[in-house]
Amino acid sequence: MLAPSLLSADFAALGDAVRAAEEAGADAFHLDVMDGHFVPNLSFGPALVAAVRARTRRPLDVHLMIEDPLRYAEAFRAAGGDTLVFHAESAAPPREVIELVHRLGAKVGMALKPETSLDTALPYLADLDELMVMGVHPGFSGQKFLRDALPKLRSARRRIDALGRPIELAIDGGITPETAEECAAEGATFFVCGQSVYGGGSVAENLHRLRGSVAAGAAREVP
Ligand code: DX5
Ligand code: ZN
Repeated sequence: MLAPSLLSADFAALGDAVRAAEEAGADAFHLDVMDGHFVPNLSFGPALVAAVRARTRRPLDVHLMIEDPLRYAEAFRAAGGDTLVFHAESAAPPREVIELVHRLGAKVGMALKPETSLDTALPYLADLDELMVMGVHPGFSGQKFLRDALPKLRSARRRIDALGRPIELAIDGGITPETAEECAAEGATFFVCGQSVYGGGSVAENLHRLRGSVAAGAAREVP
């Protein structure tokens, strides 16, 4: 799954950005919500998610970089979010967020900052629909990929396979054709791509290159 991150798109032409990626075969869209507390940056809220929802039927992966996911989950679900991804490091008890998101009829994902161990997610893994490993410190697009994410993906892949449940293993931050291939080889299945899709050149060509890299990496994945 390739999920362009709209944080890197031109906010004044989001409809065009969505259409270009969708026509080029984007599998989902990733929306980065930032509250200025959990991360130092501010981005957008439910109104923008709803505006994107009106332009595409592809799944919307809403990344909640916010202190209190319990307070806002309902609004982002109502706006059309298909998967709500909260952070393990947020103030909310994970079990409560998972139950709430499922009650709202959405899929639930848990994201781990680079410094957070995979162990933090393990007690909840069986109840998640997506596990998101961060390849950068959350808050900004266009950062360099932190390579500690690779062994974390490998360990997560093993845990997910052992559970035998269809949990999406996502990587977010620093994805280029090169790092996408490495992450695919470690078992990632969901690739969030900001600058590598919207940072320059043709969106269609960028997605095409990324897809080739993911296929090449997946082909040399060692279990
Ligand atoms: C970072 C966000 C990412 C960001 C990725 O805080 O969570 O989704 O948009 O951007 P790139 O792919 O440029 O690193
Ligand atoms: Zn994100």
